Amino acid sequence: MLITLEGIEGSGKSTLLSGLVQRVEAGGARPLVTYEPGGTPAGDAVRELLLGSDLEIAPLTEALLMNAARAQLVTSQIRPALAAGRVVLCDRYFDSTLAYQGYGRGLDIPTLRFLCLAATSGLDPDLTLLLDLPVERARARLRERAPDRIEREDAAFFERARRGYLEMAKAGGRWHVLDATRSAGDLLDDAWTILRARVEAPA
Ligand code: TMP
Repeated sequence: MLITLEGIEGSGKSTLLSGLVQRVEAGGARPLVTYEPGGTPAGDAVRELLLGSDLEIAPLTEALLMNAARAQLVTSQIRPALAAGRVVLCDRYFDSTLAYQGYGRGLDIPTLRFLCLAATSGLDPDLTLLLDLPVERARARLRERAPDRIEREDAAFFERARRGYLEMAKAGGRWHVLDATRSAGDLLDDAWTILRARVEAPA
């Protein structure tokens, strides 16, 4: 069971994720909890390059680096955990590439889908929670900390990414859109209602 969390920065993904992990563990499962870009030594080195540096990085390079980190994570962490029957909770996955490098930066979506397909060897999430909230609200929550390379983009970039996420979520299926303007507690309850039946280990 691969569960992914998506949304623009400041949408409350990290808070929701830690609440969900507690509930999943309380239900008896031992989840793998990870994130993108990163989650492996090689992936974290790529993350530092992507987010922690001031380097000029072209959109296609950015997409390739995101997928390089992703390939390492899927191969060395996610697939082995799934093969062992574990629940995997991942903070961002390839939908982030489609939202940010596709809708945000304007790269060709079919090309990005192909790159993501190669990086994940076709591993799709079983369930994706999209935390949605207006860009202004999300940015206000980030004002206290120093922005990373991507967070320095303007509001229009994040508007495009948000719209991209909502567009993708129209496909339904694995997608669940959560109203991230709600309190952290309400959001956790909403998310847990969706996840609970799927992740609770049999007694
Ligand atoms: P965060 O997950 O710690 O918020 O930061 C990850 C940043 O990287 C965030 O700005 C979204 C961005 N990102 C992409 O642009 N494309 C991707 O494929 C992924 C995984 C993240």
